[in-house]
Amino acid sequence: MEDQARTPWWRHGVLYQVYPRSFQDSDGDGVGDLRGVIDRLDHLEWLGVDGLWLNPTFPSPNADWGYDVADFKGVHPDLGTLADLDELIARAEERGIRVLLDLVPNHTSDEHPWFVDSRSSREAAHRHWYVWRDGRADGEPPNNWRSAFGGSAWTRDDRTGQWYLHNFAPKQPDLDWWQPEVRDAFDGIMTWWYDRGIAGFRIDVAHGIIKDRELRDNPAATAEDAENWRRVGQRPEFSMNREEVHDVIARWREVAEARDDKPILVGETWVLDLDRLASFYGQGGDELHLAFNFVFLLATFDAGTLAPIVARTDELLQGEAWPVWTISNHDLTRAPTRWARDDEDAARAALVMLLTLRGTPVLYYGDEIGMRETDVPHHRVMDPAVAQGARATRDGARTPMTWTAQDGGGFTHPGVEPWLPFGDLQRNVADQREDRGSMLHLCRDVIALRRAQPDLVEGAYVPLEAPEGAWAFRRGEGHAVALNLTARPRAVEGLRGEVVLSSRRAREGERVDGRVELEPWDALVIGPSVAERPSRRA
Ligand code: GLC
Repeated sequence: MEDQARTPWWRHGVLYQVYPRSFQDSDGDGVGDLRGVIDRLDHLEWLGVDGLWLNPTFPSPNADWGYDVADFKGVHPDLGTLADLDELIARAEERGIRVLLDLVPNHTSDEHPWFVDSRSSREAAHRHWYVWRDGRADGEPPNNWRSAFGGSAWTRDDRTGQWYLHNFAPKQPDLDWWQPEVRDAFDGIMTWWYDRGIAGFRIDVAHGIIKDRELRDNPAATAEDAENWRRVGQRPEFSMNREEVHDVIARWREVAEARDDKPILVGETWVLDLDRLASFYGQGGDELHLAFNFVFLLATFDAGTLAPIVARTDELLQGEAWPVWTISNHDLTRAPTRWARDDEDAARAALVMLLTLRGTPVLYYGDEIGMRETDVPHHRVMDPAVAQGARATRDGARTPMTWTAQDGGGFTHPGVEPWLPFGDLQRNVADQREDRGSMLHLCRDVIALRRAQPDLVEGAYVPLEAPEGAWAFRRGEGHAVALNLTARPRAVEGLRGEVVLSSRRAREGERVDGRVELEPWDALVIGPSVAERPSRRA
């Protein structure tokens, strides 16, 4: 087992995703900001997280809440200034917390100066930085590609009579990653931020930036295709997931590896098969450091589905490749609602699972208090994907963090209407800090246990026999995790030691000698009893 001191920080650490508009509003305009994040570093340090991923912080007309970047080297005025971001990086570092930004290389805003120039004429200097084509003779777009948000992925621009590609909203024109100038520009952007002290990037749509050179039509989705492709009606075989994307990622990795500060690349790799996911780690660690696992994230919450996905992921990601796990993010319904159907015990079990798998866990803000999906009334919907025909709003997972039960939720000033409505203010950080049995304390305790027990970080993942609906695995030599993902009792055989952590907080210290009975939604970590515990190596 490797010593944690020598393991790279991102392998042993816990990451935490901050949606800056919804984390903490420092100036009372109802929108979270970077000074707000600085003000909440106490919470993050207390919780024990090692790194933050901030959703896009760049200037943007907010046609997709920051995922439409108008300037890759700035800060959105709603969120603060470059000086605030520098300060956040420095203040976080003092507490041993690193900061990752969210880079959006697939597209820019249509208001980015590159695109403003690009669309100005067919001869413009940046014309070829984007994907422009003539339409088909019958006035139809150049091919059949559909936008992820609905509708054609092409918009005709009257000025030059050609169509430009946008795999997302029309205000998000796709860059042409076949162009060397585009690649050079992003090397420069990445280096510029690394020099400011960020620890790396989460990379938006990392699997999708290169398109088929000939822009061939996508095939129609078939019954075997994943649900979201069936919904769109086609499989994005030519509009995303091209082999050549690996050249670009390997190039980014070279830029990162050449630096002493070794920044990391965490990819949003929305691919729905695990072998393909593994390919994004490259050979011997020459592509992404971490590639988000959407097969896991989009699965149903039952042991029979999740355990095989985890086992296969574990098998594929060995050596330099390291898994990353998350149960919620800004694009999906929050896990306590999506997976646990708002059942508190089930949500706790999900959290313990997230934090005990082999790999880097990423918490989404609010996961630590079990924030539910918020029902956002129609007139408050802010997600532009809805206007374009997306099935559901993503706003319910993006509502303000609930810090207190008071007016303003501790998020904004009393009396101020936040940009998205609050969820349940009764579920808040302040109250849960007072309650040793709360989800918040559970979350903090599992993180602390990870720090104290290298088994839970570096220890091998070994699946164990478990009855239907239960899931048990060993971690390293000394620890095991037993989960009951059903509302009925279950029992797992062959475990020995002491319950060192229990999701329902009632069972710590219990001796396990062979058989352990699991109550509905129980999640137990079983380890050597205190007397038998090996002392940590120095
Ligand atoms: C990613 C982001 C999502 C955004 C899309 C387009 O999937 O996570 O929020 O809408 O990319 O940038």
